[in-house]
Amino acid sequence: MNNGGAGFSRRAFLGAGAAIGGLALLAPTRAGVARAAAPFEPTREVTLTAGEMELKLLGPDKPATRILAYDGNPFQTLRMPRGTRLKATFVNGIDEGSTLHFHGVRMPNEYDGVPTLTQPLVQPGSRFVHLLPLDDPGTFFFHPHCDETGQAGMGLAGVLIVEDTRDPAFDAEHVLCLKDWRLAPDGSFLPLTEPEGASKAGTFGATRTVNGAAAVELKAPAAGHVRLRILNIDSTRIMDIGVEGGEAWLIAVDGHALAPVRLDDLPDGIWRMGPAQRIDLDIRMPADGSPVTLGDYRAADIYRFATLTAEGRVGKPRKGPLALPKAELPKPEMKRAARLSFTLQQATGQAVKEIALPADDPLAKALIDSLCVGATTYWGIQSESWPTGANRNVPPPLARMTTGNSYRVEIKNETRFPHPVHLHGHAFEVLSSSLDRLPRHFADTVLVQPGEAVEIAFVAAPGDWVFHCHILEHMETGMMGWFRIV
Ligand code: C2O
Ligand code: CU
Repeated sequence: MNNGGAGFSRRAFLGAGAAIGGLALLAPTRAGVARAAAPFEPTREVTLTAGEMELKLLGPDKPATRILAYDGNPFQTLRMPRGTRLKATFVNGIDEGSTLHFHGVRMPNEYDGVPTLTQPLVQPGSRFVHLLPLDDPGTFFFHPHCDETGQAGMGLAGVLIVEDTRDPAFDAEHVLCLKDWRLAPDGSFLPLTEPEGASKAGTFGATRTVNGAAAVELKAPAAGHVRLRILNIDSTRIMDIGVEGGEAWLIAVDGHALAPVRLDDLPDGIWRMGPAQRIDLDIRMPADGSPVTLGDYRAADIYRFATLTAEGRVGKPRKGPLALPKAELPKPEMKRAARLSFTLQQATGQAVKEIALPADDPLAKALIDSLCVGATTYWGIQSESWPTGANRNVPPPLARMTTGNSYRVEIKNETRFPHPVHLHGHAFEVLSSSLDRLPRHFADTVLVQPGEAVEIAFVAAPGDWVFHCHILEHMETGMMGWFRIV
């Protein structure tokens, strides 16, 4: 497997792996991390095996690409009813260390899949069992949390839909996974990261796909309501999702319902979506059966990725929007919330502090062995960078918080590039944007534009949770920190 480029050296990894086999013993069970998760009887069990497979991404008559996928099923979608107790066994069938992370799912910290911080790296041929209570309905996804630029960049990701029987009945539903690929004409991968990209807006793929194809044709009855679950699972690209031809409402962000907003009423009539962000749209098909198109309007040449054409018609047309039941999430107490502020920064020389956990700290030790660190430091949060290159020092937590308390956190972007910022293990409320462009909503990832300050609030859940940019190259070149919540 060629993981492309400077980010990680597989050879270095394999060498180290051979030398330190049995590393799992070094699992960081730090005070404050190790806690007994409420055990449960699983109501559903799945095994997710990461492996290689071939997929024709360049076109049906072009050479295939060797991608990575879980169970040989690119972007496979798991659907589970809300309330499921999911036992998910991750089997690492690729030739470098990996972990499985369920993005956006609120869960016990020990199943979060962050190597070093919450579990040891899963070595090739090994497995790790996650016990996940699926209490929040919505559109989630899962992906590795080591060498993400390489592994997720090569396709390793899947969709988790937690269904709610209280949802309104839609006339059709479709899942759309947007992802670009960096491919040479012979179907092989181009380097997945380049310094020029990693230090700036990211390294973009030129082969754009939705569900692995250049575009999709979908069906829905005329005058019917279609639920579209749209996921940006690209490593890099920020997209401006717009709809032409039908009435469209934004009904959920990152899986969580919000009071429906007409897409046309948002600035520029689009929803700007960074890597890892998801939206659910309710689209009302025109009564005359004319088609609806979906596109990414961010670039001058619009990428039209889906067309909905009418097939049949609904008996009794319903007015929109079809709102989802209100999200049932811990509601931060604004009056008593402690305030914190973090600045996203370019790491220019001295801007990034070299403070670290002491070398004999179990976390620092485990990190050295996990090798889930990038090559160079370009970014930081609040003058601290996640370890990169020869620096294997885990910085101290960005904040120490108390379980059950409410926090109001400002995220300021002092760089020239937008950053989709993700907090693990929580659904936070997005309160405001200094650019005044966001409706109030719950999310697990929020895009912060250059010069913008976004305020979020959440009720702290116990554990060590990372807080990072989801442009994967940014995360792997320093833009990651963590909160310790006890
Ligand atoms: Cu999508 Cu750290 O995660
Ligand atoms: Cu970023």
